[in-house]
Amino acid sequence: MITSKQLRNSWIKFYEERGHVNIGAVSLIGDGSTGVMFNVAGMQPLMPYLLGKPHPSGKTRLCNVQGCVRTVDIDSVGDPTHFTFFEMMGNWSLGDYFKVEKTQWSFDLLTKVFGLNGDEICSTVFEGNESAPKDDETAELLKKVGIKPEHIFYLPKSDNWWELEGTVGTPCGPDNEWFYPRHDKPCGPNCGPACGCGRYVEIGNDVYMQYKKTATGYEPLSHKNVDTGFGLDRLLAFLNGITDGYKTDLFLPVIEYLEEKSGKSYDGDEEARKAMRIIADHIRTSTMLIGDVNGILPSNVGAGYILRRLLRRAIRYARKLGVESTVLCDASKIFIEKIYDEAYPLLVEKEDYIVAEISKEIEKFENSLANGIKEFNKCIDGIKRKNQFMSQKDASYLPETEISGKQAFRLYDTFGFPIELTEELAEEVGFTVDKEGFATAFKEHQEISKQQGTFKGGLAEQNEITARLHTATHLLNAALKSVLGDSGINQKGSNITVERLRFDFNFPRKLTPEELKGVEDWVNDAIKANATVTLEEMTVDEAKAQGAVGVFTDKYGDKVKVYTIGKFSKEICGGPHAATTGELHHFKITKEEASSAGVRRIKAILD
Ligand code: ALA
Repeated sequence: MITSKQLRNSWIKFYEERGHVNIGAVSLIGDGSTGVMFNVAGMQPLMPYLLGKPHPSGKTRLCNVQGCVRTVDIDSVGDPTHFTFFEMMGNWSLGDYFKVEKTQWSFDLLTKVFGLNGDEICSTVFEGNESAPKDDETAELLKKVGIKPEHIFYLPKSDNWWELEGTVGTPCGPDNEWFYPRHDKPCGPNCGPACGCGRYVEIGNDVYMQYKKTATGYEPLSHKNVDTGFGLDRLLAFLNGITDGYKTDLFLPVIEYLEEKSGKSYDGDEEARKAMRIIADHIRTSTMLIGDVNGILPSNVGAGYILRRLLRRAIRYARKLGVESTVLCDASKIFIEKIYDEAYPLLVEKEDYIVAEISKEIEKFENSLANGIKEFNKCIDGIKRKNQFMSQKDASYLPETEISGKQAFRLYDTFGFPIELTEELAEEVGFTVDKEGFATAFKEHQEISKQQGTFKGGLAEQNEITARLHTATHLLNAALKSVLGDSGINQKGSNITVERLRFDFNFPRKLTPEELKGVEDWVNDAIKANATVTLEEMTVDEAKAQGAVGVFTDKYGDKVKVYTIGKFSKEICGGPHAATTGELHHFKITKEEASSAGVRRIKAILD
């Protein structure tokens, strides 16, 4: 049994002993230079140095263990081998050693450190094409170090060439991949690493980066590099004889916790197993992204949107598994405290913040998830009813199995469903989604908002800015009562756009600059306190009895929603609101003026 901590350490030790310096890991969030949102490979932050710039350490032999996030396969998460976060154990030669040393070291590491049988190891090399020659040189060296000739395979560019897809000006080259058979039963006479029968596990690869990708082809680099990447998660499972990546020590404590909370068995219940894997994977990646040195938060754009998708998908699978969403916060804590505490001390430092942010996103989404799913089911039922009706009338009628763009847009706009979530729900019931129609509906809505002069960012960004201004209005109302010392102050009108709030209240005179400053400070103190905003439903009488503020001349229904902002405010309101006052950042009064006789008007912004 080898643990993840031991594996990280033995990798670093092996390469340090061979003159490498451990450069540590960098942020998971891409710096934008290669157009990718996340760090997808250990070599990505090293690109300038692979292209020839001297490394700041002054060294030409580097190693590290680097976290990577790849979300292209997000839909495959749920099987035993796909993860959206993984760690890449890497080492590099920046124009220093090349194939002779590298073939020997990789072989030694696998046989002497990890105890694999050299007679079983297989290796694949590049078969050559018009851009680069056949890699006979590596094949010969592999034979010399001890790989059996019949275990060396030449494969095409699709298998044995490594480059970051879609990028030019980046280093790349042929690679040598290392494989090991799981068992001794070939699937046929041509069974090998490329046959895809599952017998061979890919352990890692050594890329001989000697080219630069150009718009039209490849040009040789002035110096030859080595770029090695061995996936820690996969190797850990393999070395422990585990075929299910979720059973290594990188996940097991979380899986066991999910089993305990759900009362369901990971091994015995296929659906529960899939849900547990999705929850564990997505919470791990979310924890890493929020707790990163350049941490991000869920939003509707860019990397923040990916994070939102991960969290919202995890929330949905928590419901499927039958556990409270708060279990997701606990899962995050397990990753931080029990699994990544040693390798990622920053997560431990930021634990409270990470868990609070996950919790906020849960709160935001949960309020609308159940209703959104109801709406989704209604929409499917409607289509099915129509199909039934039409096919009774016309035997040649082709049933509809597509959710319209408008319906998908409504789920997005009103219930915060990422389009991918709607697609996934649709797929579960054999339907598809009109994505083009969705894009059109999205655009139309943006146009309307623009014409109304209220557009700012994405629509949901607008589900969020107005919510924050709503919360600020409640705080302003409470601040006025407190600072002006007049509990007779009441709301006489309120209007919110994405730009500002406007609040009218009864008061006989202009406010002094000191009073205005006092009100601003009061609200900003409440923001700094990062108070939680909670919602309860109750009768008007109950709300009054609790001292909730309201416009009691308005007609309220049987039940009202009462929003409590920590110790600062309790008010009847339809919402929506921020989850905590910290989200408001900073409150600023931009204008104070008369609205009508005895009524003053304040305009304010959050900046
Ligand atoms: N850059 C290579 C990889 O990520 C080593 O697999």
